[in-house]
Amino acid sequence: MKKTFIVANWKSNKTEYEAKNWLDGLKIKDLLLMNKEIIVCPSFTALPILKSLIISHKSNIKLGAQNISPFDEGAYTGEVNAKQVKEFADYVIIGHSERRKNFSESKEMINLKIEQAFKNGLIPILCISDLKQIHDSKFITHNSSVIVAYEPIFAIGTGTPDTPENADQMAINIKNILGQIPVLYGGSVIPANISAFSEMPNIDGVLIGGASLDAKEFYAIIQNA
Ligand code: PGA
Repeated sequence: MKKTFIVANWKSNKTEYEAKNWLDGLKIKDLLLMNKEIIVCPSFTALPILKSLIISHKSNIKLGAQNISPFDEGAYTGEVNAKQVKEFADYVIIGHSERRKNFSESKEMINLKIEQAFKNGLIPILCISDLKQIHDSKFITHNSSVIVAYEPIFAIGTGTPDTPENADQMAINIKNILGQIPVLYGGSVIPANISAFSEMPNIDGVLIGGASLDAKEFYAIIQNA
């Protein structure tokens, strides 16, 4: 049976206090019994509290960051580097379309971030909206420790997801280029439509924005996946 990845991308939401409440609202003991890799990607500021709660609850939830510096440690004011993130997390989202658009992230910048992730033992969750962005990411071509999330821009935060059939075809296309790596779908996934995506043969999981912010809704997604 394939392991399903369920990634929560909180974007720029939740204080430390709100993050703790969210975890309290999840039935985390039940998650131990499921064959699912649950990855929560909060803001940097909530990573420490979530890490310590996950350890104290003996939870199998994994943590990810939403971004890393393209550079090593050093004189880069305001940046959080991959070595710092690795103290708290195993994964990092790279190349989300909101960063490509709002922060002018270029393919060169994204490649540097992927390189930093690999160098520091973080697994990149590379977000792409088309196949060209796969070809742009030269570092992932021969690396099996990578996850790709297909996230069409029209589907992000709009309530209008792609069709499961189209998303599955994209997953096939991505695997044809990169081999048998996990491919996720992201964009307007909710409890009511998750199973249509997770049941597709080539989709290994989902990346969830808005619907991950409420613990009950997120738990319903996990259950239905
Ligand atoms: P959404 O966001 O689930 O709110 O559509 C997905 C994403 O941006 O990763």
